Amino acid sequence: MTKTLLLLPGDGIGPEVTEQSRRIAQAIADGGAIDLRIDSGDFGGMAFDRHGTPLPDDVLVRALAADAVLMGAVGGPQWKGCGYDVRPEAGLLRLRAGMNAYANLRPAYCFAPLASASTLKSEHVAGLDVLFVRELTGGVYFGAPRGIEALDDGQRRGINTHVYTSAEIRRVAEIAFQIARTRRNQVCSVEKGNVMEAGLLWREEVSALHAEKYADVELSHMLADNCAMQLVKNPRQFDVILTDNLFGDILSDTAAMLTGSIGMLPSAAIGDPGAPGLYEPIHGSAPDIAGRGVANPCASILSLAMAFRHSLGAPAIADRIDAAVASALDAGVRTADLGGDATTAGMGDAVLAALALPVADRVEA
Ligand code: IPM
Ligand code: MG
Repeated sequence: MTKTLLLLPGDGIGPEVTEQSRRIAQAIADGGAIDLRIDSGDFGGMAFDRHGTPLPDDVLVRALAADAVLMGAVGGPQWKGCGYDVRPEAGLLRLRAGMNAYANLRPAYCFAPLASASTLKSEHVAGLDVLFVRELTGGVYFGAPRGIEALDDGQRRGINTHVYTSAEIRRVAEIAFQIARTRRNQVCSVEKGNVMEAGLLWREEVSALHAEKYADVELSHMLADNCAMQLVKNPRQFDVILTDNLFGDILSDTAAMLTGSIGMLPSAAIGDPGAPGLYEPIHGSAPDIAGRGVANPCASILSLAMAFRHSLGAPAIADRIDAAVASALDAGVRTADLGGDATTAGMGDAVLAALALPVADRVEA
C-alpha cells in the first residue's frame, strides 16, 4: 500500500534542511524499501505571503489525509508585525491541534562523537538518552480566555489561561508510560503543583493512571524549576520526562544544548493510533543563517526517521537512517553549529553515502 509523506518546508532554514530529508526519503523509496509518495505544501510565513494564511485549508486537509507530515520551520522577523491569529506560529499551533497530535516526543540523545560539542562537560552528557513527552495541544498555548485588553485606568492587561482536563492529561501520560516500557521503564512527571492547580491535577491524574494501569513503570514527580536545574546538573538521571506544553517547550530546549546542538534534535507529534503524525526538527527557522546552505539538516533527517518509525510502519528504515547519521558523524562530517565546515547538502550527501544510496540531485542553497 502506498504511504504518503507530506513535506511542509516552511520558512527560514526549513526548506534547506527539509530538502535533505526529501532526497533521503526519495532515495529510500527509489531503492524499493517502501512504496512512498512524497508531496509538499505551503505552510508558515511563506503561505501567509501567498495565501493570506499560514495554514491554508487544503493543506490541513492534505495533512490529515497523509500518513506522515514532515515540517521544516516557521516564522521570521518579517512576520513579527502580523496579528497573533495569522502569524506563522499560529499556523503551527492550528496544524498541531487540527491533527490532534497531542503527544510530542522529543528525544535528547547525545551521539558519542558530539559529547565534546556540548557546553556541559562531556562526562555529564556522554551516553545521554532522555525522551521528553510534551503535551502539545493544550495548556497555556490554547487556553481561553486569552488576549490583551484595555483597562479603565489606561493600563492594558495581557491574559493567557493555563488549563488542562483530566482526559488531556491521561491520554498523553498513557503514551509516556507505554514508551517508557520500551526504554528504561522510568517516567518523571514534571509540573508546578506547588503553585498551580492545573499542575496539582496533572500530578494526581498521572499518579492515578499509574496505579490503575502502569504500576510496573517507575514513576517520580518533579517540580519544573528543579527539573531545569537537574537537567544541567545530572541529565542522565532521566529516562522519560512527561510534562505540559509550556514546560516541555522550555525544558526540551535546555536538553537540546546537552546534545551538542539544537540542530540535532528531531521530534514527533502523535495522537490516537492510526492518525497521521507530525514530524518536526525542534530548532526554529534560524533567519540569521537561512539561505546560506550551512544549516544542520540532522534534526530534520532524524525527524524523518521518526516518521518511518511511528507513522510509516517502517522501523527498520528508521534504524538505518539513525545509524547513517551516527556513521556520518563518526566519520567527522559536521556542519558549522558543531564546529565543522560541511554544508547542508554536504551533510545530506554524507548520510546518503552512509545509507549506501546514490548521492544525486544535489542543490546548494
Ligand atoms: C517548538 C517551538 C514552537 C513552540 C513555536 C515555534 C510555536 O518553539 O516547537 O518548540 O513553542 O511550540
Ligand atoms: Mg520551542
